[in-house]
Amino acid sequence: MSDEPGRLTRLTWGPAWREAVGLVHGWMEEAGLPTRLDAVGNLMGRREGRRAGTPALLLGSHLDTVIDAGRFDGVLGVLLALAAVEELEVREKRPAFALEVVAFADEEGVRFPCALTGSRAMAGTLDPAVLGLTDRDGTTLAEALRACGLDPEGLAACARRPGEILGFLEAHIEQGPVLEQEGVAVGLVEAIVGATRLEVQVEGRTGHAGTVPMRLRRDALAGAAEMVLAVERLARGTEGLVATVGRLEVLPGAVNTIPGRVRFTIDLRSPEDGERTRVLADLEARLEEIACGRGLALQVVTTHEARAVRSDPKLLDALARAQARLGLPERRLVSGAGHDAMAIAAIAPVAMLFVRCREGISHDPAEYAAPADIEAALAVLVETLVLLSEEFR
Ligand code: HGY
Ligand code: MN
Ligand code: MN
Repeated sequence: MSDEPGRLTRLTWGPAWREAVGLVHGWMEEAGLPTRLDAVGNLMGRREGRRAGTPALLLGSHLDTVIDAGRFDGVLGVLLALAAVEELEVREKRPAFALEVVAFADEEGVRFPCALTGSRAMAGTLDPAVLGLTDRDGTTLAEALRACGLDPEGLAACARRPGEILGFLEAHIEQGPVLEQEGVAVGLVEAIVGATRLEVQVEGRTGHAGTVPMRLRRDALAGAAEMVLAVERLARGTEGLVATVGRLEVLPGAVNTIPGRVRFTIDLRSPEDGERTRVLADLEARLEEIACGRGLALQVVTTHEARAVRSDPKLLDALARAQARLGLPERRLVSGAGHDAMAIAAIAPVAMLFVRCREGISHDPAEYAAPADIEAALAVLVETLVLLSEEFR
């Protein structure tokens, strides 16, 4: 399900996303899970525990994608969660605690300049100001919600009450090469790196490409190009840090006009929050210096900030013991990709399970996870639920 012909792009609150939510909603109902959609589009299917009124263990991931995406990022975690809950029922192993399969809205944050939107709404940490953010067509997030029959005024009510959630388990493709390199199908995520997203605007002076002498130009694109290389240089020089300029817009964009304005994004990540903060300060100083040297105006806005998160040791241990019961080798790793688990960590213990993916490719149509590896991940998820259920008091 895609909003674009010939490639997979399923941005949140768009037609393809709504279709996907409708399909998964149906599968949850078929599995006997009463479902509900909250005000921002998080889809939840719930199976009560043997002991009524107990808190729920959440399992799931997201249904939205990036542009020209792969078929596994997010979706695999939602379907593995649903399959695991169904398998428990088949084995007549209903836990004492409730189970909720969740498909979060807007993990990627590609359409609007905000990310982990649904999971942060559930955590009660989403700033209502995001409702006024606009996409590239000028549609506000509030208007996008209304167009889906969702309710911007119900944002606060998405927050789950403390103690309502026992924990959150997220299965996801690794989106990196480690498991494949080590010949391991399933990995345990010890931590997720912290991330910052910036939107940078460089303002110079539009002009005629033929008549303005080079020494008089305030070329916004030449300045932005120097800034992009400065981002790369800084990241290359800092161990463990990655930085990416994923989108760059040149205005007015005519072949014979000196660009007067450029907007670009920076995605910067590090396992250490302190280092990320320090590098951001250095980076902004360097961008200012380049702008100053070229007579350009600079505006830098932080559009997303997520602290590094560690998996809960007890949940991670349960996953590890489940793997051991299945005779699977254990491999622990850090996630360079961001996930909904980062947001849910604010209100409950979280842990993640990674599935090997071919050549570590992701955010690309070549993204692929083998059925045997998906089966292994399902087996680990089911065994973990059985084990948690046996130990739940
Ligand atoms: O950006 C990320 O790391 C994730 O794919 N949303
Ligand atoms: Mn992604
Ligand atoms: Mn993802």
